[in-house]
Amino acid sequence: LTGFITLDPGYKNSGSCTSEITFLDGELGILRYRGYSIEDLAEQASFPEVSYLLIFGELPTAQQLAQFDADIKKHTLVNEEMKNIIDGFPKTAHPMGVLSALTSALTAFNPKSVNVENEKEMYDAVCKTIAKFLVIATWTYRKTMGYPLNYYDNTIGYVENFMQLMFKLPTGPYAANPIVVNALDKLFILHGDHEQNCSTSTVRMVGSSHAGLFASISAGVSALWGPLHGGANQAVLEMLEEINKDGGDTDKFMAKAKDKNDPFRLMGFGHRVYKNFDPRARIIKKAADEVLNTLGVDDPILAIAKKLEAAALEDEYFKSRSLYPNVDFYSGIIYRALGIPTDMFTVMFAIGRLPGWIAQWKEMRENKEPIGRPRQIYTGHPLREFKSNK
Ligand code: SDX
Repeated sequence: LTGFITLDPGYKNSGSCTSEITFLDGELGILRYRGYSIEDLAEQASFPEVSYLLIFGELPTAQQLAQFDADIKKHTLVNEEMKNIIDGFPKTAHPMGVLSALTSALTAFNPKSVNVENEKEMYDAVCKTIAKFLVIATWTYRKTMGYPLNYYDNTIGYVENFMQLMFKLPTGPYAANPIVVNALDKLFILHGDHEQNCSTSTVRMVGSSHAGLFASISAGVSALWGPLHGGANQAVLEMLEEINKDGGDTDKFMAKAKDKNDPFRLMGFGHRVYKNFDPRARIIKKAADEVLNTLGVDDPILAIAKKLEAAALEDEYFKSRSLYPNVDFYSGIIYRALGIPTDMFTVMFAIGRLPGWIAQWKEMRENKEPIGRPRQIYTGHPLREFKSNK
């Protein structure tokens, strides 16, 4: 062994980099972007404002935000030939798989985006990614529904565009409900960044080889898809619907979650860092009540979620392992109330996390981080003489 190697599966006790972007305190349940508390940002800022903050390090002036918005709008048209790619997918394809493929395909139509050797090239790559990712993210839904693909509308805002890209039909006018836009703006902010989580570490790792921004984000989308990570928001709703169908017997599912012989886990609970309440879950739970009340939606799933949460918070197994609701536990209930289909929930997470992925990738490149290449402890065969088994 050259020197000694510490084995740390899942990097539970390893720091991969220094970063000035996001601060987490898992014991106290604190989350800050560039020093601002998530509570203040969720209440007082807009998602485009928070995206600017994450990527460039400071809250923008009105003029800076307007310029950023204008520069993004220069790139909101996605190459028409990209439609040939999405047409190749079956309607049953999971939107996250399609999104990862389309994001990677953007490189083919924007080859220059691979080079970010100076500030202008970096800025252009950032604006292109934000502009085009939202459009192709909604195309996955339109394709599944058999609807024509919509175009970004440069006359309205980013979150309004999300709703229009998703739901506007050629048969008539469309105006997004401001209550829905406001709720989504807050949800996207809450998903903005989360230091070195699985998908962000993936974006950094892929980018560390100097692969382009689109390719790195595409890898992040794939990592986020997993049910132990961003895919949990879809798994939570599927779990709650199963409990609901099963008569709402939360105790039965709690017992399953504690049974070591049963692979079932209480989705939306637990976190690698938060050993206290996930501050985002607290805000989203409050927003879920507000949005469902305002929209007049009475969803029995919300009552089951609250019953499950209350039971888990009292339960010795969960308390002894500091398992609390995380960001994914309540978000799906809001998405459902907003008419977002379940298999699009993790795409929603990706849209919110995009500025964080970009900010972390940009910081990694600007800090000239070395290519990621961990070692291992070899446990295979010692040297053996070749004797064919044929
Ligand atoms: C996200 O990292 C991030 O920041 C991620 C994220 C972000 O913003 O990027 O916050 C987003 O991914 C949130 C997490 C979403 N995932 C889920 O909700 C899936 C369910 N949760 C778990 O699978 C789990 O809690 C993880 C994956 C979130 C964390 O796993 P760890 O840190 O590797 O912990 P572990 O698997 O070692 O569990 C420790 C103990 C084990 O029991 P023992 O071996 O000690 O007896 O807790 C148990 C686990 O079995 N456990 C659970 C559980 N989560 C952990 N038991 C039942 N249900 C659960 N949900």
